[in-house]
Amino acid sequence: MAPLLNFLLASLLGSTIAACSLDAHIKKAGKEYFGVATDPNTLNIPEIASIVDQEFGSVTPENSMKWDSTEPSQNNFNFAKSDILVSFAQSHNKTIRGHTLIWHSQLPNWVTTITSPTVLRAVLTTHITTLVTRYKGLIHHWDVVNEVFNEDGSLRDSVFLRVLGEEYIPLSFRIAHAADPDARLYINDYNLDFSGPKLEGMVALVNRLVQQGVPVHGIGTQAHLVVGNGAIPYFRGTLERLVSTGLEVAVTELDVRMAVPVTEERLRRQREDYALVVKACREVQRCVGVTVWGVSDKHSWVPNTFPGQGAALLWDEEYKKKLAYEGVESALA
Ligand code: XIL
Repeated sequence: MAPLLNFLLASLLGSTIAACSLDAHIKKAGKEYFGVATDPNTLNIPEIASIVDQEFGSVTPENSMKWDSTEPSQNNFNFAKSDILVSFAQSHNKTIRGHTLIWHSQLPNWVTTITSPTVLRAVLTTHITTLVTRYKGLIHHWDVVNEVFNEDGSLRDSVFLRVLGEEYIPLSFRIAHAADPDARLYINDYNLDFSGPKLEGMVALVNRLVQQGVPVHGIGTQAHLVVGNGAIPYFRGTLERLVSTGLEVAVTELDVRMAVPVTEERLRRQREDYALVVKACREVQRCVGVTVWGVSDKHSWVPNTFPGQGAALLWDEEYKKKLAYEGVESALA
């Protein structure tokens, strides 16, 4: 009797938890997922694993699928960490946003020093094909190219642009599509949350790609935001500008940082900012989902990257829900 009772209790609790999770809320609002960035280093922490399991429907590898982790030297592939993330997702029924195939950062030296177009084309082809093929059918979105723009809307200098020209972008999408025709392929960037040349550069490039028949399916707007930023109320407008291309959009790396020390006032404003962003996605039909860039303020990338700022996520350093969590809930209610 006891096992049966335990089973019934667990199913009951499980469904109660699932019914009020962020993922359940966003699905009720007609979206595909509410996701989170994680990796084995954070999934190892029981509190994090349980929040990821209970609240989220999608996971993005925070670092484990980047080039420096997956192919640190040529043709020497390492999937130890990304495999852990993928099998967690499979056993916990989460979809996966693959992140990221082509990026100027976290790129090993052996790639950045290539000068021959023939060699770079072959290296890029092998890298993309190997990753996409390994997880074929398991990764529903791939960030194929990441952060290819400068703030003025021109293409960012990188080994890819220098050696291959703009052509590396359509090439990357075509190779990824050949390896997994069912994966939805994204171009992802930051500072698309306000009007200006970078947003327009993205729209123009995507329009060109679509016109050329390149298999690009979505635009990711990272949304690394700052509490109280005056642009946040217009976030919906920028999503609408992105979907004017005819593609879907996703909020891919949401966090809203603040100056530390944390104050009650800043936490209250953060609640409103999170609510505005999530509500914007809710209201724009072709916004398919939201991913937050981590679970707890304890492991966020923010303090290392933006000295003097922190507390950007939905759970505090003790794994307690912040007001920001309520903000998200209220936007989806
Ligand atoms: C960050 C990770 O969160 C950090 O752990 C790592 O040290 C650097 O990269 N834009 C992106 C993400 O596309 O991959 C970055 O992630 C954050 C900015």
